[in-house]
Amino acid sequence: MNDPSLTLLISAEEIRKKVRELAQSIRNAYRGEELVLVSVLKGSVVFLVDLMRELDLDIEIGFLYLSSYLGETTPQTRVQHYILPFPKIEGRHVLIVEDILDTGASLLYAWQHCAEMKPQSLKTCVLVVKEGGAVGIFPRVDFQGFVIPRVFVVGYGLDFHEKYRHLPYVARLETPSE
Ligand code: XMP
Ligand code: MG
Repeated sequence: MNDPSLTLLISAEEIRKKVRELAQSIRNAYRGEELVLVSVLKGSVVFLVDLMRELDLDIEIGFLYLSSYLGETTPQTRVQHYILPFPKIEGRHVLIVEDILDTGASLLYAWQHCAEMKPQSLKTCVLVVKEGGAVGIFPRVDFQGFVIPRVFVVGYGLDFHEKYRHLPYVARLETPSE
């Protein structure tokens, strides 16, 4: 890592191991069932791609394009929803796949959007949960990866002004205001 504004927080190897563990828990929970994975764009797409290849289940994928950061490092409470085609999830098992949980506004939005379509079951899988985040907003994470301090992170799908998404690890970004 040669960008001085980045500090490694979760290595690529740690992520690989965690994704395998999460996939095993999900496989056990949905064995013999068909599952719809709903990925929240853009951040969770890297996680989705790695996770789905470990699942060995009958799956369909769908996308929700939400934005709450508007390019900055402080979350906005208002979630912007850019409409994309969405799978029919009524009566099906649905798992929302999210990269990171901060205030919980995005996951709550995704949850309510899916719940309205009356799936048979609705659960959440989040790779990174910020410590003390989502208090009282969306506390329910069924499959949880890492817990990190409340710092702004990039990499493994997460961006700052669309930069850093391709990094195979998660790093803390020192923002100019810090
Ligand atoms: P909320 O506050 O809705 O945030 O739980 C979830 C969404 O905000 C983005 N997010 C981040 N993106 N570094 C990022 O690059 C971060 O530290 C971070 N924290 C939250 C992310 O898109 C997530 O879905
Ligand atoms: Mg996200």
